[in-house]
Amino acid sequence: MNHYIRYESDPHNKRKDRQNLQRMFPFIWEYKGRVLFALLCLIFSKLAVVGVPFILKDVVDSLGLGKGSLLTLPLALLLAYGALRLAGSLFNELRDAVFARVRYHAMRRVSTRVFHHLHQLSLSFHLDRHTGNISRDLERGAGSVSSILNYLVFNILPTIAEFLLVATILLTHYETRFAIAIFSTVILYFIFTFAITEWRMHFRHEMNAMDSEANGRAVDALLNYETVKYFNNEALELRRYDQTLDKWETAAVRSQTSMSLLNFGQGGIIAIGVTLIMIFAGQGVVRGEMSIGDLVLVNALMLQLFMPLGFLGIVYRQLKYALADMDLMFKLLERQSDILDSEQAERLKVSQGHVQFEHVGFAYHAERPILKDVSFEIHPGQKLAVVGPSGAGKSTLARLLFRFYDVSSGRILIDGQDISQVTQQSLREAIGIVPQDTVLFNDSIYYNIHYAKPDANRDDVIRAAKLAHIHEFIESLPKGYDTVVGERGLKLSGGEKQRVAIARVILKNPTILVFDEATSSLDSQSEQAILQALREVAENHTTLVIAHRLSTIIDADQILVLDGGKIVEQGTHRQLLEQKGLYENLWQLQQEHQPDRPAVTVDSKVVVN
Ligand SMILES: Nc1ncnc2c1ncn2[C@@H]1O[C@H](COP(=O)(O)OP(=O)(O)OP(=O)(O)O)[C@@H](O)[C@H]1O
Ligand SMILES: [Mg+2]
Repeated sequence: MNHYIRYESDPHNKRKDRQNLQRMFPFIWEYKGRVLFALLCLIFSKLAVVGVPFILKDVVDSLGLGKGSLLTLPLALLLAYGALRLAGSLFNELRDAVFARVRYHAMRRVSTRVFHHLHQLSLSFHLDRHTGNISRDLERGAGSVSSILNYLVFNILPTIAEFLLVATILLTHYETRFAIAIFSTVILYFIFTFAITEWRMHFRHEMNAMDSEANGRAVDALLNYETVKYFNNEALELRRYDQTLDKWETAAVRSQTSMSLLNFGQGGIIAIGVTLIMIFAGQGVVRGEMSIGDLVLVNALMLQLFMPLGFLGIVYRQLKYALADMDLMFKLLERQSDILDSEQAERLKVSQGHVQFEHVGFAYHAERPILKDVSFEIHPGQKLAVVGPSGAGKSTLARLLFRFYDVSSGRILIDGQDISQVTQQSLREAIGIVPQDTVLFNDSIYYNIHYAKPDANRDDVIRAAKLAHIHEFIESLPKGYDTVVGERGLKLSGGEKQRVAIARVILKNPTILVFDEATSSLDSQSEQAILQALREVAENHTTLVIAHRLSTIIDADQILVLDGGKIVEQGTHRQLLEQKGLYENLWQLQQEHQPDRPAVTVDSKVVVN
């Protein structure tokens, strides 16, 4: 709730509100016919509603005239009275019905616009965000469009229209003091409402804050169910929960009582206003300047006017909230992506898949360089492996190749084209990755594999699954390919997820492949099977393999040893062993730590240990 308080205390917001409303306008104007028609309905319905008291006046007057002589029933007038009432509600409903399309269409357009924009923003934005907050902003933003329209079209505009109509009628038909009395009442009413609302909103904030906090505590305690039990802390949790609820209770009671105060005050002001006007009208009747019908008319008009005013306090507050929500959403839309296609960007033309890193320097944050002058080349169809300690910058190489970030210095070329000068779409089409951590959509396994290539058919998907050695596993599941994998894919084991990721890449079949620790979650046996699969896939592809376990990459055409963002050694497995440097060191360590594995012979090109 805090951003509301911040938002309201910011003096620039009046201007911003107007700007935001202007920005919302195009979304509504797409259906301008409907908008205009709805406004027309609004005017008609208000005319009809205001017309009703007039007929009532005539009915009363004609009944009054009948006194003494024969009382005739003013049937035509009474029918007109009914007809006007009917027309009032007809136009009212017509307005809602016609406007529904405008409103929901605007919501849809705004939502898709924000969603689209979120996908345009770069990875660095998405790493900084909290998914929960963004999705709340999106939801609130779209909701705010609807509620602003709702309040404007269904509450504020009608009230203003009605007020103007009534004021004009009073001014033209009756003495000015009627109009003055009504104006003063309304103004007093506004001032009172806004002042009290402002004051009591504080209780409301407090109440909401305590509510969220209690909720957060409860959820946290339940999520940590086991921990609570381990430490026997049920009583502590209950006490903390109850303390928060205690504050909530106090705030809620204050909020409710202050609301009664508000309602009573509003009622009081209206009562005074109405009484005053009725006294004026009574005097008019006594003096013979006004008929009984006039008195009825004035009374009816007043009541009609003050009824919608009652909601205005709430509407005003909600409108403020909605404007604040909308502001957050438009701020999101204003954010520019760090990674943009250059003006003259063309599609990447992939011929063989020749990858070059030329003196690449890179830092996520300027003060901490990650890659320093990294140069290497992967010839078409070759396999290059990158090894090195954790945090050396290996996965960063893959992110740069995908252009999730732009290099700080140097450049990356694919088949001679600088990747910053081609469209991101075409670049990413050319590369496939099995990432270090595979995250899956909470949907079926079939969906997750098929995702790589939406125009693939079922046979293609199954073929890819077979190549990734996961087909049999999938078939063994009761629901087969329709098995839902759970949030982020958590219902699959780490190794199964990796194999789904491999199946995806096989299906995508790009020219350039990147395997980032693609077998890290697998036991030695499955690893061998998968490595075999990967080798088959990598055949005729340019491949970048990132690995911790050196035994998995000894067949690489070239191995880079990355340490502290620099290439410290480079060569084939054999050459590197002979250099007796970091690589040889790592190799020895890994051999010692895996005594269960037979020693590896390095002579054959493909070595499976
Ligand atoms: N988005 C980011 N913002 C800031 N620093 C980052 C970001 N991503 C990674 N880093 C830092 O960059 C360095 C290199 O990360 P990278 O993921 O490339 O390491 P790695 O060599 O793949 O390590 P590992 O073997 O553990 O996967 C790390 O020190 C990491 O903390
Ligand atoms: Mg990594």
